[in-house]
Amino acid sequence: MSGRGGGAGQRLAARMVPDGWEPPQYARVKPRLLAPLAGEVVEIGPGAGINLGYYGPGVRWTGVEPNPHLHERIRRGAARAGLSARLIPGRAERIDAADSSVDAVVGTLVLCSVADADRVLAEVLRVLRPGGRYVFLEHVAAPPATRTRRAQDVLSPVLRRLPGGCRYNRETGAAIARAGFGAVEHDGFDLPVSFGLELPHIAGTAVK
Ligand SMILES: C[S@@+](CC[C@H](N)C(=O)[O-])C[C@H]1O[C@@H](n2cnc3c(N)ncnc32)[C@H](O)[C@@H]1O
Repeated sequence: MSGRGGGAGQRLAARMVPDGWEPPQYARVKPRLLAPLAGEVVEIGPGAGINLGYYGPGVRWTGVEPNPHLHERIRRGAARAGLSARLIPGRAERIDAADSSVDAVVGTLVLCSVADADRVLAEVLRVLRPGGRYVFLEHVAAPPATRTRRAQDVLSPVLRRLPGGCRYNRETGAAIARAGFGAVEHDGFDLPVSFGLELPHIAGTAVK
């Protein structure tokens, strides 16, 4: 994963990844996005497996999670959810799956962490079958010259050096829009964070 610190950094990053509580704004949108998925589903950057409980029983789930310190938590979560789960330890910039072989790719709060979001989105398109869907929930850069964007621009160089390597001001919505999907639909919401700031998010689907 990106972010500094090698093995120790990954261990620390793994401790910071939640597997239980999440903001109600996330819990509100995820059932609509994740419950209808079926067949071969690849989740990129699943963290500790916080989304596993949202999938239906017919899903064959593969996680692409580069932080090995999260794998045991994912396996336990998959067993609790009654899902057949497979883990790939690589990065989403190069997904170990054949072209057009997957019904859905899921990523929540992950494009802020990857080294190359355009490359990851190209891989998502490659592995999806025609008509397959990319399901996403991401925080995004606020519009330029807003108070939130100024804070994101200041915090981003600091946060990307911490374990987890989050790019707070990444223009992820624009990256998804230009990636080459047939149809992209998403809703937006703001999540209150510290210092009176509200972090803009998008949640939706893009169809190949
Ligand atoms: C902020 S956490 C989000 C975890 C989970 N998806 C969630 O919604 O809570 C970001 C996750 O992306 C993973 N990650 C970082 N770089 C990655 C990459 N290049 N490919 C795949 N996953 C990556 C991290 O290891 C971490 O599990």
